Amino acid sequence: MAKRPASFICQTCGAAHTRWQGRCDSCGAWNSIVQEEEAGGSVPPSQRANRRGRLIALESLSGTSEDAPRVSVGIGELDRVAGGGLVPGSVLLIGGDPGIGKSTLLIQASAALAKAGHRIIYVSGEEAVAQVRLRAERLGLADAAVELAAETNVEDIVATLSEGRRPAMVVIDSIQTMWTDTVESAPGTVTQVRSSAQILIRYAKRAGAAVILVGHVTKDGQIAGPRVVEHMVDAVLSFEGDGAHQFRILRAQKNRFGPTDEIGVFEMTGLGLREVANPSELFLSNRDRGAPGTAVYAGMEGTRPVLVEIQALVVPTSLGTPRRAVVGWDPSRLSMVLAVLEARCGVKLGAHDVHLNVAGGFRITEPAADLAVAAALISSLSGAVLPADAVYFGEVSLTGAVRPVPHSPARLKEAAKLGFARAVAPEGKPAGRDSAGARGEPQESPLLVETVASLGDIVAGIAALGPKRPRARDTEEG
Ligand code: TYD
Ligand code: MG
Repeated sequence: MAKRPASFICQTCGAAHTRWQGRCDSCGAWNSIVQEEEAGGSVPPSQRANRRGRLIALESLSGTSEDAPRVSVGIGELDRVAGGGLVPGSVLLIGGDPGIGKSTLLIQASAALAKAGHRIIYVSGEEAVAQVRLRAERLGLADAAVELAAETNVEDIVATLSEGRRPAMVVIDSIQTMWTDTVESAPGTVTQVRSSAQILIRYAKRAGAAVILVGHVTKDGQIAGPRVVEHMVDAVLSFEGDGAHQFRILRAQKNRFGPTDEIGVFEMTGLGLREVANPSELFLSNRDRGAPGTAVYAGMEGTRPVLVEIQALVVPTSLGTPRRAVVGWDPSRLSMVLAVLEARCGVKLGAHDVHLNVAGGFRITEPAADLAVAAALISSLSGAVLPADAVYFGEVSLTGAVRPVPHSPARLKEAAKLGFARAVAPEGKPAGRDSAGARGEPQESPLLVETVASLGDIVAGIAALGPKRPRARDTEEG
């Protein structure tokens, strides 16, 4: 006999348990487990057993299928992160902190699509129609033919959507406010969120409309409610940024129809979100050129180069255990770089506090930032100011060697475009003036490349600059 499906669900993480217990084994939350209606409970077991499967037509990989033309939103940054526009019939989940601008982004996208002649329906479960209108008015989009509703019942919403012309895009703001008649728990619980999402996903696939779900995130940055919603949808995008900075980054975490390493950069202005076509200019706009401890990193986000300033502060510690504080980078990579500096280059930082900050609130995910971080650390420790016209990139290995990283030409080109004159980078495939033709396609570098083979080279290079006292300034960025 088939095992009965688990029906005790943790409301925090969505894990299923076979019996009630006080603490969820999977996420450790207390008192979060609630009994859930069994799925498929309406069909009596006797009938279930008698039903014979229907034959499915099997197809070959080489067969032709109708091409799904993507719907371009007209907001370039959003289109790129989505993989080149919205795929009809797909479901996209956008998560982000409250107030980050999810509703703003989606009302702008809705208006842009409506102006292009598509039918767009915007369902808000959080705000009244008047509030949504007010925002649209502020954004100067009140004349767009977006169809609005303030509704939270999924059955009503799907019934409404099924009427009339097929919408190109449906926005559900937010999935946590939705509820369905089919389950009894309160709105916002895992069961409700999951069942509502399921119904909306079924609608999207059946009708061929792109559905965008807005999801709240919890304090630790996860999309609230069951992780299963993330598995159910076609793409998960996160909208990031912090209150102190104007810019917002849209990042793909999962995408069945596109790459996941693309980012979209926006700036929040009085007139809504503005696309930032050249993020490097934004991130480098308030550089402090004369101060030690800063290095410009030539990074890549997906197919796009992004230059950011890395700031390090190394000060003698007053505590038994020195502090290591990192904003915008992986703390374990910082530990690694510190260990390699100590073990391979004799740079002792054991009695120093280390603070590392990626300027502007940007978050770096690439290991290629190792070299720039090391340069900033050494610069701060020695008081030597790094040349203002140099960029750094390269991965540091545990042996102290600096390894080449992909996309060097794109990094160099972006740096040259922004007026940098040299790059400090590893030797190898990334072809520069010194190593052109060494390996891979020979490529003329747009700027002077000083190659480094090991971290020792860069320590020596910075030592040669000689220490300079920092300018008498006590204010840094806040
Ligand atoms: P919102 O889109 O409501 O955020 P979310 O849906 O993610 O919760 O954005 C609200 C914030 O954006 C609010 O703090 C005000 C700010 N904002 C602007 O700065 N300019 C604007 O034109 C708009 C519409 C909002
Ligand atoms: Mg909102």
